Amino acid sequence: MKIAMIGTGYVGLVSGVCFSDFGHNVVCVDKNPQKLAQLKAGEVPIFEPGLDTLIAKNIAAGRLSFTENLAEAVDGADAVFIAVGTPTRRGDGHADLTYVMSATEEIAHALTGYTVVVTKSTVPVGTNRAVAKTLAKANPNAEFDVASNPEFLREGAAIDDFMRPDRVVVGVESARAAEVMRDIYRPLYLRDFPIQITDLESAELVKYASNAFLAMKISFINEMAALCERTGADIKAVSRGMGLDNRIGNKFLHAGPGYGGSCFPKDTSALARIGQDYSVPLQLTEAVIKVNEDVKRRMIEKVRDACGGSVNGKVITVLGVTFKPNTDDMREAPSLTIVPALIGAGASVRVVDPQGQREGRDLLPGVSWDDDVYKAVEGADALVILTEWNEFRALDLKRIAAAMRQPAMADLRNIYDPEDVANAGFSTHISVGRASP
Ligand code: UDX
Ligand code: UDX
Repeated sequence: MKIAMIGTGYVGLVSGVCFSDFGHNVVCVDKNPQKLAQLKAGEVPIFEPGLDTLIAKNIAAGRLSFTENLAEAVDGADAVFIAVGTPTRRGDGHADLTYVMSATEEIAHALTGYTVVVTKSTVPVGTNRAVAKTLAKANPNAEFDVASNPEFLREGAAIDDFMRPDRVVVGVESARAAEVMRDIYRPLYLRDFPIQITDLESAELVKYASNAFLAMKISFINEMAALCERTGADIKAVSRGMGLDNRIGNKFLHAGPGYGGSCFPKDTSALARIGQDYSVPLQLTEAVIKVNEDVKRRMIEKVRDACGGSVNGKVITVLGVTFKPNTDDMREAPSLTIVPALIGAGASVRVVDPQGQREGRDLLPGVSWDDDVYKAVEGADALVILTEWNEFRALDLKRIAAAMRQPAMADLRNIYDPEDVANAGFSTHISVGRASP
């Protein structure tokens, strides 16, 4: 099949590359000249484990190319995927569909022959119908169908998630479009990965509902963590006990500093707005958002406690600022709330993050960056673990405690066992969901 992928962000680039690895002929389109230049030179503009190898392999096989010329990519394509950003619209929390609709206009004028126009970006219910109307209006002679094909990949595990998905969801209105989508996903179909063919609105809503439900699990366990701190229970024991119930499942029950990323914050906000637009207030989704904001603020208090009640004049070393490990993405990362608050309260902050500096340098002005944890903790008054990179999981705690001015730790991802931290010589150890000793 010939596929055009419009937008080469985390979703578009991974999807386009994986489709080419299925054997399809994929042309990826992007407006960002820097990003395109990198991709054409075989460089990868994002950090995603394994993506560089896959890109090189499929460019060499002649199945994958990159262009700024949308019309050229769309010409003769069996399917055109829209994977441009759908960020939160300033001020009202809606999904901003500017990029989706401008890409749709451009696609309309480039269609030559029957084409399925697929929206892979996460879009509010009804968007696919709006795309169909826009296409027909802009090019009344165009022969097309639309399809909704939301993406469920997680950054840092994106290739595996795409190649071995729990499910592929496809929303279509015609059998012909369904057939094209089955052909595109045949390599997965043949390996028994479930492909759900449903209507447009259901496919659009499955994506928001799934993300909001996952975010709800996180906000729920973070609320339980706050209760554990007061009752003396241990959140790790509580989440393990809950997760052994296969109706609950043990995934997404790790208490921490709150969820971030380019999806959960944006998608929960957009879903809450969709509920308001249809006069069905989504109270749970709205509570999930509020709890998450409260959790980030509670983390600032935890760091203050670790510094003996005030961070003013203190040196704080922060391990991890990306929104989660194995990504360079800083979008809505809890660090963007926590670190500026610490600096605003008079602390000086040093940051160590294997991939965070590229984006973090601009997003976190005023911090100093270090590659070496042991250097970054010298003379510090507190060590804050904010992102659970593997690099931070087996540190020499004794050596760190000895190098600090005050051996105090705020482990906001519960990486370390409280006893090990105390035995290593830390006088203060604050974590999440466990009563402070
Ligand atoms: C984002 C959201 O996270 C996801 O929920 C949504 O489904 C798709 O958009 P992501 O891949 O992270 O996914 O998007 P982003 O990293 O913002 O990249 C979007 C890409 O599209 C950028 O490279 C941008 O340059 C490009 N783009 C944007 C175009 O090529 N044309 C446009 O008109 C607008
Ligand atoms: C998420 C969804 O998992 C994915 O299906 C969807 O396509 C895009 O959004 P992503 O945002 O890449 O993926 O990251 P994810 O691994 O889901 O983590 C999201 C946030 O939740 C991160 O900030 C992470 O630190 C946090 N998290 C996750 C927790 O705090 N606790 C957990 O148990 C799991």
